[in-house]
Amino acid sequence: MVFSVHLNVQLKFYNLPFTFGALGGLLFGFDTGIISGASPLIESNFNLGIGQTGFITSSVLIGSSVGALGVGPLADRYGRKRLLILAAILFLLGSTLSMIAIGFWSMVIARIILGLAVGSASALTPAYLAELAPAERRGSLGTLFQLMITLGILLAYVSNLGFLNHNLLGIRDWRWMLGSALIPAALLLIGGLLLPESPRFLAEKGDSTQALSVLKMLRKNTADDPKRELAEIEEVAKQPKGGVKELFTIARPAVIVAVGIMLLQQLVGINSVIYFLPQVFIKGFGFAESSAIWISVGIGIVNFVVTILATVIMDKFNRKAFLMFGSIVMALSLGVLAVMNFTMDIHSTAVPTMILIGVYIFGFAISWGPIAWVLIGEIFPLSVRGIGSSIGSAANWIGNFLVSQFFLVMLAYFHNNVGGPFAVFAVFAVISMFFVHYLVPETRGKSLEEIEMDLRHQAK
Ligand code: BGC
Repeated sequence: MVFSVHLNVQLKFYNLPFTFGALGGLLFGFDTGIISGASPLIESNFNLGIGQTGFITSSVLIGSSVGALGVGPLADRYGRKRLLILAAILFLLGSTLSMIAIGFWSMVIARIILGLAVGSASALTPAYLAELAPAERRGSLGTLFQLMITLGILLAYVSNLGFLNHNLLGIRDWRWMLGSALIPAALLLIGGLLLPESPRFLAEKGDSTQALSVLKMLRKNTADDPKRELAEIEEVAKQPKGGVKELFTIARPAVIVAVGIMLLQQLVGINSVIYFLPQVFIKGFGFAESSAIWISVGIGIVNFVVTILATVIMDKFNRKAFLMFGSIVMALSLGVLAVMNFTMDIHSTAVPTMILIGVYIFGFAISWGPIAWVLIGEIFPLSVRGIGSSIGSAANWIGNFLVSQFFLVMLAYFHNNVGGPFAVFAVFAVISMFFVHYLVPETRGKSLEEIEMDLRHQAK
């Protein structure tokens, strides 16, 4: 009851700019999630070797790292909105090309273009949402990005299930799977055209009139005073700037936090579950392929539902408290999983493994999933916010690439015993606790301008 009342209130102020602004997350989730179901089909259709199939999966991650890094300086120069539109066009292009690919190379090119789009969206959206949101709701509104990611992953799993073995209109199932991304991509383009430019970007460029009218529109039904907010933004925007050099001076602590939090978000192993869980159950526990895919759907649902909960309660507790709680839950569930799989008979561990993976997903989805993205949108000073979140986002994609490349190798090394890789991830979950305790700043409830002034004082 309390939950549904909360949710209603939340939905009311989740007005269009935020929902459309977060759509890049849906494509992020969809394009990374869809390939788990589509790749075996593409492999047999194009007669690919295992290495080639692996490359089709990871080529998106290569594109994402490049897209994430490239987009930041452009966003600081040309604005968030224009770049979001560019990302939407790349999504449309990449989705179309992957749907009509005729062989290995055309698929790789399409996936790299998709990667560029996913990477750009992942660097742009957190900063854009943070710059639009009022301080007291910034955590929840920023979490919308992760909510969209998890919805995208779930939709991808469902689309995998729905299209599998259905060659509708004589078009192969995997082409439908990949092509279904065109719908959210088109929505993102329409959203991008309608969305306002970030008021903070406008103020930084000296366009106060436009900045004020965007703030008035965004704060319409709230008690916030747009004029006061603009005055605060302009006050901080007046600070002497060192350009990109600031990344090595006053913004250095923020760079360390962004890179660390993003690498750790991946090194706790989330995508070993999101991308490879069916394979784990097939290889590790001898499950049939058809039942293994249902496990993915289950995980997708848990991931999505827990993220809804995170969206509702994100601004009620400190970000650091959430992160610490998540690290503890992940370290414990992974630790128990590892010990269990090394000490018990493999046939009796399948069900407890499934439950513990559910607990692990809960730990991730309530904390590190959303908060890593929320934080990179808020910890950088305005003048380098675009490029700063680019660096954080690129670190995320590099971490993702490492885990995706080495997970199956690790699994083989431990003779298909998931205890091996999960023990490695548990170690990173423990490391993440120290990282949070010693390095991550608390940002809840502060305006972006207060966070920036804290950084500037710290550097004096
Ligand atoms: C991560 C993705 C992951 C997803 C799972 C995101 O925050 O960055 O790599 O697949 O969460 O929900």
